[in-house]
Amino acid sequence: MFKIGKIEIPDTPLLLAPMEDMTEPSFRSLCKHYGADLMYTEFVASEALIRNIEKSFKKLQILEEERPIGIQIYGHNINAMVESAKIVAEVKPDLLDINFGCPVKKIATRGAGAGMLRDIPKMIKMSSEIVKAVNIPVTVKTRLGWDAESLHIEEIAEKLQDVGIQALAIHGRTRNQFYKGEADWTLIGKVKNNARIKIPIIGNGDIDSPQKAKLMLDRYGVDALMIGRATIGRPYIFKEIKHFFNTGEILEELSVNEKVELSKLHFSKSLEWKGDKRGIFEMRRHFSNYFKSLYDFKSTRIKLVTSTDIAEIYSILDKIAEKWG
Ligand SMILES: Cc1cc2nc3c(=O)[nH]c(=O)nc-3n(C[C@H](O)[C@H](O)[C@H](O)COP(=O)(O)O)c2cc1C
Repeated sequence: MFKIGKIEIPDTPLLLAPMEDMTEPSFRSLCKHYGADLMYTEFVASEALIRNIEKSFKKLQILEEERPIGIQIYGHNINAMVESAKIVAEVKPDLLDINFGCPVKKIATRGAGAGMLRDIPKMIKMSSEIVKAVNIPVTVKTRLGWDAESLHIEEIAEKLQDVGIQALAIHGRTRNQFYKGEADWTLIGKVKNNARIKIPIIGNGDIDSPQKAKLMLDRYGVDALMIGRATIGRPYIFKEIKHFFNTGEILEELSVNEKVELSKLHFSKSLEWKGDKRGIFEMRRHFSNYFKSLYDFKSTRIKLVTSTDIAEIYSILDKIAEKWG
């Protein structure tokens, strides 16, 4: 059994990785439907929460049917992080996750996100203070280290556990790798196999098929798998992986007509949740991925991801079903 606080999920859970502008309620509802066992909000800026910024408060909204769900925060200032953690705890998510992994320059070079990998004492102090300040489980998501010369994740994992962090998700890249190259799971496996480590270790990085999920699980023995980019335009990957784990068989790919129906449902939820402008804009990456395997799709794709007209987008989707379905 996979346990974090009161969360109990049968082995081996599949987690939806936190992703900015992606893992909001409309997309999460699809991932949940297809079997995501634990989901996260996108990261929320601690400084924005303590300054009462409405847009950031909206990111804290979680629905009962989404449980178990974690809210993720980031920031470089310990006091701001502690105060924002208290705000998050009032919303009563199943867990609070701290982002020590974001590589984006303006975040990491200010010392937040993966920037904290350059100041491990501060990372541990911040984690400890947050654990003491809230009465919900606190978890961490991070990377292997800042760069290839500072792969400190084994030491970090022990220290985080010692201050009361209840689970650790590790993306198998350094900050300086951003998303380049291939994720290296060897150190994730080492953390998992360290006899001192008792908390669940969640492996993350480059899982994009049921076979890859099984390979990573068998090879590195992690307690859970976290999937990010491969879910974009493919929220049903959770179902595909579970089916493969249970039967050893690969589910048949959704037909184009089914993908059109699914993307329409997703689009309507996106509009409902985010309003027309952002609802359209933030669907674009999903749309591209839903239909990325279609032959001779380029000009239709460009229309689909540049249109700002809802009716036109629906009609392009209908045309996709007509032409490729
Ligand atoms: C568009 C995008 C947004 C992301 N936003 C976040 C975030 O808000 N918090 C976080 O911890 N990681 C974030 N990540 C990193 C993912 O959670 C994940 O660690 C990374 O994509 C590697 O996993 P994958 O290979 O399965 O995609 C983001 C990644 C992408 C592609």
